[in-house]
Amino acid sequence: MNIGVPKETAANERRVALTPEVAGRLAKSGWAVLVRESAGNRRCREGAALVASFQPSAERETVSQLAARKVTAFSLALLPRITRAQAMDVLSSQATVAGYKAVLLAAVATGRLFPMLVTAAGTLTPARVLVLGAGVAGLQAIATARRLGAVVSAFDVRPAVKEQVESLGAKFLEMEIGEHAETAGGYAKELSDETHRRELAFIAQHVKDADVVVTTAAIPGKRAPILITAEAVRGMRLGAVIVDLAVETGGNCELSQAGNDVIHNGVRILGPVNLPSTLPYHASQMYARNVSSFLLHVTRDGKLVVDFDDEIIRDTCVTHAGEIRKT
Ligand code: NAI
Repeated sequence: MNIGVPKETAANERRVALTPEVAGRLAKSGWAVLVRESAGNRRCREGAALVASFQPSAERETVSQLAARKVTAFSLALLPRITRAQAMDVLSSQATVAGYKAVLLAAVATGRLFPMLVTAAGTLTPARVLVLGAGVAGLQAIATARRLGAVVSAFDVRPAVKEQVESLGAKFLEMEIGEHAETAGGYAKELSDETHRRELAFIAQHVKDADVVVTTAAIPGKRAPILITAEAVRGMRLGAVIVDLAVETGGNCELSQAGNDVIHNGVRILGPVNLPSTLPYHASQMYARNVSSFLLHVTRDGKLVVDFDDEIIRDTCVTHAGEIRKT
């Protein structure tokens, strides 16, 4: 069986889906790996299988073409967040990179040092970092800011993350949510209007003290929730920095713009896009390992086995045998 690696087509994409290490591992297991430099687009032959990471709802035309060519297409962005799928979980591996890089961007953008320093020229107070949304990216942002010596606090609507936040040496900010904010699958739910209003007021109080705010809050399949209003930004310290990791799904800050820096009332708001691609070495290494784990899961003896009783295959398979299974 052949594995083809086409050139990525997304703007500014610098990652690659298979690294030499992983290609070598797959070749040893009897696969022929063809890396197509400059192929430019995903031209799958009829009946081929495709493994990629995309949202079918945002790629309707491509999905129709894949079905028409009877391609069996899998999207790793649809993987269930279950223990069995962890080694294939591209959302987690790439969120880890994004959370780390967000803090580095903030550290460069702020005029402050992160750690407390006792120097001959006096004592420097540590930077105060606030992380909103403590999922995979948020936890990595907390860990990175702590490693740089900042005093870190964090907030999330899922009370289950309190312990994880505290285990990283950060303070968990508690707000009475008063409703069930978590799905059975462990994701956050959209809050009621009343709770969201209270959340905005709560956050506005806490961003006042922060030198850096990293926001990562997301609701699967929905626009990211607004957590920092323009008014809250006006209440922040001069020179403070916000890094909005949710900017590609609408943004957690009312003022952030995808791909641009905005300065409002002396506060700098960064809206970086595709952060994992700015650290392509490790992002690709993890992505390639995720892909190879998935390939080994969906094949037996070098042949594709599409077993819809398997949750991983059922959830990720977008097209098969000419049918569109996910829209
Ligand atoms: P995500 O990217 O969907 O959201 C990021 C964070 O934003 C979440 O922690 C969420 O609770 C928070 N959030 C949403 N709305 C908010 C609001 N209004 N205010 C404040 N925070 C808000 O989350 P991610 O990182 O993809 O993880 C989601 C879940 O999946 C977690 O329970 C995580 O433990 C679980 N997970 C399970 C895995 C596995 O078992 N294979 C692997 C990775 C994650």
